[in-house]
Amino acid sequence: MVYQATASAPVNIACIKYWGKRDTKLILPTNDSLSVTLDQDHLRSTTTSRADPSFTKDRLWLNGTEEEIKPNGRTATCIAEMKRLRADLEAEKPNEPKLSQFYVHIASKNNFPTAAGLASSASGFAALVKSLASLYQLPSTPSELSLIARQGSGSACRSLFGGFVAWEMGSSPDGSDSLAVEIAPREHWPEIHALICVVSDDKKGTSSTSGMQRTVETSTLLQHRIKHVVPERMKVISEAIKKRDFNTFAKITMQDSNQFHAVALDTDPPIFYMNDVSRAIISLIVEYNRVSVDAGGPLKAAYTYDAGPNAVIYTLKENVKEIVELVVNYFPQANQFKDPFGLFGSDGVQGNVVT
Ligand code: DP6
Repeated sequence: MVYQATASAPVNIACIKYWGKRDTKLILPTNDSLSVTLDQDHLRSTTTSRADPSFTKDRLWLNGTEEEIKPNGRTATCIAEMKRLRADLEAEKPNEPKLSQFYVHIASKNNFPTAAGLASSASGFAALVKSLASLYQLPSTPSELSLIARQGSGSACRSLFGGFVAWEMGSSPDGSDSLAVEIAPREHWPEIHALICVVSDDKKGTSSTSGMQRTVETSTLLQHRIKHVVPERMKVISEAIKKRDFNTFAKITMQDSNQFHAVALDTDPPIFYMNDVSRAIISLIVEYNRVSVDAGGPLKAAYTYDAGPNAVIYTLKENVKEIVELVVNYFPQANQFKDPFGLFGSDGVQGNVVT
């Protein structure tokens, strides 16, 4: 009997940023966050898990290379938590094979180049938890699984759902209410698209994990943000998503990206994630929106940046072509665009990101 399962999970990009932990071991955040899952086929992690009585330890391969599973590390915690859920199921159903007692071998692959500069921890831990849930035949809901993916990487909990997803910070010290919930499924607002502009594929200088901890310890602006800014923004952007109000969605998304980077700057010593090209893309989008607003129209695009210089631009399908042309025009080296939405016909330029 072969006990094996494969699952995949997509990348997500936050509109309201998670930045700060109140518990670093359980990965409990200092504020709620909200993201859009990029459910295009070409930005996913796919993970296969196998349990076998002949295995002598848990092992992990990432993109073909074996990685150490550190005792008590994040991967070990996720595996242990999933085995615990399987053991509960075996206790209820004594005829089930005792998979919780076998070691597992896990192989995970990203279908986007690591060089694209996109964080893979979110899709990676979400796919790992999903594949183990499938291997162990667990009846768990995506929200229940998000509790475990969260302990791999905070942002991973949001990749358990497609569409528009909130991570509720919760208040319980054991983390049992710090989980992802669906705000709206992808089909609710299919017109919304994300363009990823890879500004640099260098590994980032300060990791999210260490950067956000330094922010928690030193930034006074973060305290203002978590108490007085994020709760209101969560309400307003959730409503905007429900009403498909792109203008409000875009306004809040850009404001929150700006504040996240302001909070990084307010950290001691300061953290800079954006570079001159990132800022030039901001200016381009601001100008693009200004032309629309001056003509009495709505905001047409929203930029957002995570812990690195790469831009993600949210827009509606009708504007994708125009924005890509604008970016390629102002950044002539941006010639590696693939046409994920079929807007350019079969001769569309190649690659899956704007570089
Ligand atoms: C800027 O989830 O990578 O992308 O929980 O320490 O693994 P850890 O951090 P991580 O942080 C993501 C930070 C962010 C914002 C976001 O995705 O909400």
